[in-house]
Amino acid sequence: MPRQSNLIRFILIFPNLPTSGKFILKDLPGSGKRIDILCRCLDACFKWGPNILNNNTLEIVAILSNELSLTFTSHKDMPLGEVGWAKEISNVLQEGSCPFISKTYENLDTLVKRIRRISDIWVMDEEGVSFKGILNRISHSQNSFMLGNNRGFDSYAYEVIKKYQIPSMSLGDTSYLGSHCIALVIAQLERLIT
Ligand SMILES: C[S@@+](CC[C@H](N)C(=O)[O-])C[C@H]1O[C@@H](n2cnc3c(N)ncnc32)[C@H](O)[C@@H]1O
Repeated sequence: MPRQSNLIRFILIFPNLPTSGKFILKDLPGSGKRIDILCRCLDACFKWGPNILNNNTLEIVAILSNELSLTFTSHKDMPLGEVGWAKEISNVLQEGSCPFISKTYENLDTLVKRIRRISDIWVMDEEGVSFKGILNRISHSQNSFMLGNNRGFDSYAYEVIKKYQIPSMSLGDTSYLGSHCIALVIAQLERLIT
């Protein structure tokens, strides 16, 4: 059963999201190649998803264009809403600094290799094993859940998933938005600590 001190990480894969940081704030889905999805996932993870879990136990790692990763950790000044998040992401991608975002140049393979040393990893997939059925295996200090974007996972992500034999888990047959998957996982894990 997870304790407050355990870390829950969501790994989000965006194969086309521009690493230049040059998005048009009025057209985030188009110019940002679905950066709006990342922003909504950030709100779900750090703003409206958790009720009981301490935000310090949550982390999001987004891999952009298989070139670099952005790691988001809790901070009092985190924004709310797509435009606020997009401004912070754009700043960091354009070499600015932000207390709750760190940037690492790595591809998905390197990211998975790094994270599997410190955490169990699960691929979120409608056709995976029922999440409720694996809750008794969620006992380690870190669990990471990998999500696709609006198109699911690309062929490269599937190669990495296969290479590292990452087990899959499902929230049911319905295909949910990534942000809702994050909120559902957090809700299920919160039940374990109440
Ligand atoms: C909007 S969904 C992607 C839907 C897309 N049409 C597809 O074919 O995968 C975004 C991501 O959320 C996760 N997801 C959505 N519904 C899920 C479910 N019922 N169980 C587990 N993961 C789910 C998956 O990782 C998926 O790649």
